[in-house]
Amino acid sequence: MSSSNRAAAFAAAFVAAIASAPEIARAQEKTLPGQPGIALPVQSLGIGRPATKDEINGWDIDVRPDGHGLPDGKGSVKDGEALYQDRCAACHGEFGEGKDRWPALIGGSGKLTDDDPKKGVGNYWPYATTLFDYIKRAMPFGNAQSLTDDEVYAITAYVLHLNDVLKQDAALDRDSLPKIRLPNAANFVPDPRPDVQGTLCMKDCRPAAEIHSEARRIGVTPEDERNKKRPGVD
Ligand code: HEC
Repeated sequence: MSSSNRAAAFAAAFVAAIASAPEIARAQEKTLPGQPGIALPVQSLGIGRPATKDEINGWDIDVRPDGHGLPDGKGSVKDGEALYQDRCAACHGEFGEGKDRWPALIGGSGKLTDDDPKKGVGNYWPYATTLFDYIKRAMPFGNAQSLTDDEVYAITAYVLHLNDVLKQDAALDRDSLPKIRLPNAANFVPDPRPDVQGTLCMKDCRPAAEIHSEARRIGVTPEDERNKKRPGVD
């Protein structure tokens, strides 16, 4: 083997040790889930294993305000009533009025301008879609994510019925749910505090931070022997 061939073989073996060529090609083709502009990192840390489709589906359950992420399925107010009595009423009350110190799901009205406003789904939720998300993700308390998608549609419909948003004969699915306008939606406003403002940015977002020392320049750090040996440490 000539020396240049040997060098090439060595280089190839080295690359193979980091990541196989097909692996690199595959990774370069792919982008981060839901982020079409961002390539998956080529580098592998050599630990763990890729998540399976089922694992990702189990985790990826969020439903956004516009309805993005709503699953297949449907459920009616009527079906929701029986399910609600069975799975929810023990804490939230037969009509959503809340039992003992468990939270009420009805009863809110007005614009939350009282000193101690009563909050229910009808006045304290801006979107019906995220109500679905919340019930699917977090309820029944203590047995979260035990409901099927049809059951979540039905129970969401019933909770909205309890809040006078849906009629008795209504049913919900991924098309009808995002069309619901909750009564107080228009009174939710973007958070005006300056520290929560900002534009979404994924790349080249801000100039690199420049680190410099200030304490010695303004004379707050005494110049002892230790500082002299470690220049730049204030
Ligand atoms: C064991 C008692 C319990 C059961 C059963 C239960 N919940 Fe809840 N629920 C809670 C508690 C506690 C909270 C408040 C959780 C928190 O704030 O973190 C809550 C909060 C909620 C909220 C949010 C209320 C708000 O406006 O902030 C909704 C909606 C809700 N539950 C719906 C349901 C539905 C639908 C079911 C039946 C599938 C259910 N819950 C079953 C205890 C329960």
